[in-house]
Amino acid sequence: MLVQFVSFLSLAASQAQALTTPAQAATSLGYLKATSDGKVIGYISKTLNANGEFEGVSPDKDSNDVAHRMLVSIDQSVTGPQSLVVENLAAADADWPFLGGIGGVNGTTIGSAGNYLLIGGTTQTLPGNPALRCGNTFTDRTGEQRNCASAFWVYNATTSAVTPQWTNDDGSVVVGDIGFVNEAFIITGGIEQFEAVWEDKVEWLNLTLQTS
Ligand SMILES: *[C@@H]1O[C@H](CO)[C@@H](O)[C@H](O)[C@H]1NC(C)=O
Ligand SMILES: *[C@@H]1O[C@H](CO)[C@@H](O)[C@H](O)[C@H]1NC(C)=O
Ligand SMILES: *[C@@H]1O[C@H](CO)[C@@H](O)[C@H](O)[C@H]1NC(C)=O
Repeated sequence: MLVQFVSFLSLAASQAQALTTPAQAATSLGYLKATSDGKVIGYISKTLNANGEFEGVSPDKDSNDVAHRMLVSIDQSVTGPQSLVVENLAAADADWPFLGGIGGVNGTTIGSAGNYLLIGGTTQTLPGNPALRCGNTFTDRTGEQRNCASAFWVYNATTSAVTPQWTNDDGSVVVGDIGFVNEAFIITGGIEQFEAVWEDKVEWLNLTLQTS
């Protein structure tokens, strides 16, 4: 009787332990496909421009586009914001292996006055935290200090959508809009506000993970 009681307790303990164990990571590799109104317009490229921002690659303009696409790993079991690792970054940029948001000219708060973020390689930051001084490819290329963050990408396992959920400096959270401008990507907190401030032609887009 006593033996059974003890084994019942140990069973309960091991079940409780199983329940608190985090879900197994379900890492997928894929390309970040850009669509506009459902039409594929290209992919984020693994290549950085002279300012340390990721470029885009379009199958219409680059017959070797598959080789030039960025390959990221994403954890499909994470429902909140996470960092995406750029798996095929140039070895010289290995210090900044995450797909990060980097402050634009007016800092790292988006959602007003047309403010925006650049997209480049960064070090890793914690989910839900505002941007902070972190190593990034823009600062590396230009010498200009900019704050940045990496863990703000939300993956929707049903639609494969990859959406930026950015934490502003005051802690408010903004679901970002992504644009392709001057051959690089930006994240802003309002399409109309951005277009009211900047004259540049923007191609607004959504990202989805296309597993490789
Ligand atoms: C992005 O997706 C949202 C939600 O599905 C949609 O409302 C919006 O029109 C899409 N934007 C583009 C540029 O396709
Ligand atoms: C950015 O900041 C500068 C100076 O602080 C200001 O003149 C400019 O209007 C701001 N631009 C935007 C888009 O907020
Ligand atoms: C995924 O996207 C679908 C369609 O937009 C939406 O209904 C669903 O709530 C999203 N799932 C999560 C976890 O956000």
